[in-house]
Amino acid sequence: MSRVARGQYRLFGDTGDPGHSPPGVAAGPFLKWAGGKSQLIRQYSPLFPMAWRTYYEPFLGGGAVFFHLQPSPAVLSDITEELINAYVVVRDKVDELIAALRVHRNERDYYYTVRAWKPESLTSVQRAARVIFLNRTCFNGLYRVNRKGQFNVPFGRYSNPTICDQAGLRAASLALRGAENYAADFEKTLERAQAGDFAYLDPPYNPLSATSSFTGYAEGGFSEAEQRRLASVYRRMDRRGVMLMLSNSASEFVRSLYTGFRIVEVTAKRAINSKADGRGPIPELVILNY
Ligand SMILES: C[S@@+](CC[C@H](N)C(=O)[O-])C[C@H]1O[C@@H](n2cnc3c(N)ncnc32)[C@H](O)[C@@H]1O
Repeated sequence: MSRVARGQYRLFGDTGDPGHSPPGVAAGPFLKWAGGKSQLIRQYSPLFPMAWRTYYEPFLGGGAVFFHLQPSPAVLSDITEELINAYVVVRDKVDELIAALRVHRNERDYYYTVRAWKPESLTSVQRAARVIFLNRTCFNGLYRVNRKGQFNVPFGRYSNPTICDQAGLRAASLALRGAENYAADFEKTLERAQAGDFAYLDPPYNPLSATSSFTGYAEGGFSEAEQRRLASVYRRMDRRGVMLMLSNSASEFVRSLYTGFRIVEVTAKRAINSKADGRGPIPELVILNY
C-alpha cells in the first residue's frame, strides 16, 4: 500500500507526513533489545542510501534504525511474535497501552507473577504491556525465552525504572503510523521487496567463537545454515535491484558469505565474551550492494 507513485522515489527524511513526532520528543526504541543499533547510528548515517521507495526491516528487534530514519511506507517484521504484537499495540492502541502499563509496579514477587502469565490468555494490549513491563524491570533488559518459548529472565532490581514512558510511547506510535508490522521469517518479508526499495538487515550475529555471542532470541537460534540462507536471499534481492544494507560480526565466515559486495567496518562496544569485563570496542561489518 505504497503512497509513493510508481517511478517516483521518496527522499530520505521526507516522510511526507507532517507532525510525525510530537514536539520535543524524538521517537526511539521503546524496548531495550539485545544487539540494538542505537550506538551505531552515527557510523551508519553516511551509509544509508539517499532515496528509496519502500523501507523493509525484517529483523526489527528494538528498531533503532527504523526510528532514526522514520521512513514511510515501511514494512517491519521479526520472528518474535510478542515483540511484533507490542509494535502493533503501540501503533494502534497507545492510550489503552499506557493505561495498562500504569497498573504495573517494580516489585520482585509481582514481577514473577506477571512473568508467569500466559500470553495466549491475555488481550493484545495486556500482552504488549507485559512485554514492556518485563523489558523495563528484568535483569539487563534482555529478551530471552526458554525451549518452550517462555520469557525466563530474572528480576532486575532497578531502583526506579520508567515503566510507562508516556511521551516516548506516543512519539513511537506516531512514527509507526506509516508502518506495516507482522511476525514472519525474514525471507517471507524480503520476497515482497522490489527494485528501488531499501532493506536494512540486522540478523542475530554469527558468533566470533563458540561461546562469544548470544544468538538465542527465538527458539532454534540462528545457525550457520541460517546465515547461509540469508546470504543467498541477499544475492537474490541484489539481482532484483533492491538496495541492501546488512550488519553482522567481523568473522571470516561472514566475509566469505558476502565476497564481491562492499564491506565497511564500523566499531561497536559489545560484550565480547560472557564475562562482564569483556566489554570493549570491537569491529563489526556492514555489507552494502550500492
Ligand atoms: C540483532 S537483533 C535486531 C536488533 C535491532 N536492529 C535493534 O536495533 O534493536 C535480531 C532480530 O532478529 C530476529 N530473528 C531471529 N531469527 C529470525 C528469522 N528467521 N526471521 C526474522 N527475524 C528473526 C530476532 O527476534 C531479533 O529481534
